[in-house]
Amino acid sequence: MKYNPIQTYTWVPLTIQEEGENLINIVKAEGEFVTDSEGNTWIDSIASWWTMIFGHRHPALVAALKTQIEELDHIMLAGHIHPAAESLSKSLLELTNFDFHKVFYSDNGSNAVEIALKLAIQYYQNHPDLIPRSEFLVFSNSYHGDSIGAMNVSGKNYFNRIFSDLRFPTKEFPAPNCMNCPWGKVANSCSTECLDDLESEIKQKDYVGIVIEPLVFGANGMLFYDKKVLVKLRELATQTHTLLIFDEVFTGMGRLGEVFAYQKAETKPDLLVMAKGLTGGMLPLGATLVSEFIYKQFLSKDPYRAFFHAHTMTGNPLACSVGYASVKLLQETGLGQVKKLEETLQKRVEPFQKTLGKRIENVRVMGGIFAFEYKETIAEDEYLNPVGKQIREKMKEFRILLRPLGRTIYITPPYNIPEKSLDQIFLALEQTLLSFPESD
Ligand SMILES: Cc1ncc(COP(=O)(O)O)c(C=O)c1O
Repeated sequence: MKYNPIQTYTWVPLTIQEEGENLINIVKAEGEFVTDSEGNTWIDSIASWWTMIFGHRHPALVAALKTQIEELDHIMLAGHIHPAAESLSKSLLELTNFDFHKVFYSDNGSNAVEIALKLAIQYYQNHPDLIPRSEFLVFSNSYHGDSIGAMNVSGKNYFNRIFSDLRFPTKEFPAPNCMNCPWGKVANSCSTECLDDLESEIKQKDYVGIVIEPLVFGANGMLFYDKKVLVKLRELATQTHTLLIFDEVFTGMGRLGEVFAYQKAETKPDLLVMAKGLTGGMLPLGATLVSEFIYKQFLSKDPYRAFFHAHTMTGNPLACSVGYASVKLLQETGLGQVKKLEETLQKRVEPFQKTLGKRIENVRVMGGIFAFEYKETIAEDEYLNPVGKQIREKMKEFRILLRPLGRTIYITPPYNIPEKSLDQIFLALEQTLLSFPESD
C-alpha cells in the first residue's frame, strides 16, 4: 500500500506536506534490499541515510542484539556502567590507536555534535590559564544536524534560515571545494588559499573551535576537498589554542576507505563525533570521542567543573552491543569491502560519463561514495532544486531508493553490496538520466 503523507498519522520528515508524495510502505529488509507492503523489492542505494554499512539486519548485528536483550535491556548510565558500553568504548579507542581518551555516548549525530560543542566551551571555562570563549568557526556547506546547537554550527541555508534568530555567534567561511576551486587551483598549485580569510580571523580573535566535516561535506552536496585543508586547520588551531572538532557522523566507520577520515587525512582533531555507521542502521547511537588534554580539565572534585549532560537512553546496552558488533565487522571484513567497493566504483566512472555525456558533471568517488551533479541550466541550486525529486521519482520505476541532494546525485551503498545490485543501480541511473534533457 502506498500512502500520501497527509493521510498518515505519522509526520514524515523532510516532506512537503501538501505536495502529495507517495510514501513507500516498507515492511521488511535484508542486505541491500527492502520490501514494501505490496511485495516489491527495492535496493536501498544510500544505506538508509548512510547507516547500514553492512546491509540491513546483518546476522552478526542481529545476534549481538539477541544476546544482549537476554541479559540487560537498559540501565541509566549515570551512576552505572555495563559491559556493552565498556566493550564498545574500548574498541572505539583502540580503533583510534588511543588518539582519544574517553567516549561520551548519546543517541544520534546531532546530540553527539551538541556534546562536542558543550565540552569545547566548558574546556575553556574549566581551564585555569585560558580565557573563556563562545564563538565557533564554521563552513558554508556544512551540515551537523537539526538540533539548535548543531544547526548553529552548520552552514546557513534554507534548512535553518527560519531559526537564524536563535543562533549563537559563529563566523562562517566558504566551504573548501577542490572540485571547483574558486581560486582556480589544483592539487599541485594549491596553498590553501581558501583558508586565508579564516587564518587572518583566527589570529585576531579567540574562538572556541573550528567545526568541520573532514574531507567530504556530505548532506550539503557531497563536496570533496583535499587533506591539505585539514592539515592547515590543524596548524592554525594549534597555534591559536583553538579546538579542532571533526564531525565524522558520515565519514567515520569506513565510509571513505579508512576507519576514520582523520586517519586518511593524517590529521588528528581534538574532538571527534560519530553516529550513523556506528549504529549499523539498527539502533540509535552517537559517540563523542574526547582527547586526554580536554578530559583533564574536567578531572576535579569541584562540581562546577563537571560536565552536566545526559540523555535518558545514553549508552543504551542494546545500541552499544550492536555498535560493538559493527566495529568488529568493520575490522574483520568491512574495511576490505569498502576498499574493494571504491575500486569498483572508480571503474564505473568512465563508462558512466561516456553514456551520459553532457548531462552530468563532477563524477567523483571516495571510498564508498559515488556522486555527480546533473548539469542543469536552471540556476536554482541547493536541495530544493526540483530536478532531485524528479530523478528520485523516476528511479522508483526501477525500484531503487535514492535521495538526491538537489542536483547532486549520489549513492552510498552498504560496503558489501554485490556487483549484481550495483549493476542494477547504475543501469537505473543511466536510464533515468538519459530520459532527462542534455544541457548545452
Ligand atoms: C556530518 C553530519 N553530522 C551530523 C548529522 C546529524 O546526525 P543525526 O541525523 O543522527 O542527528 C548528520 C546527518 O546527516 C551528518 O551528516
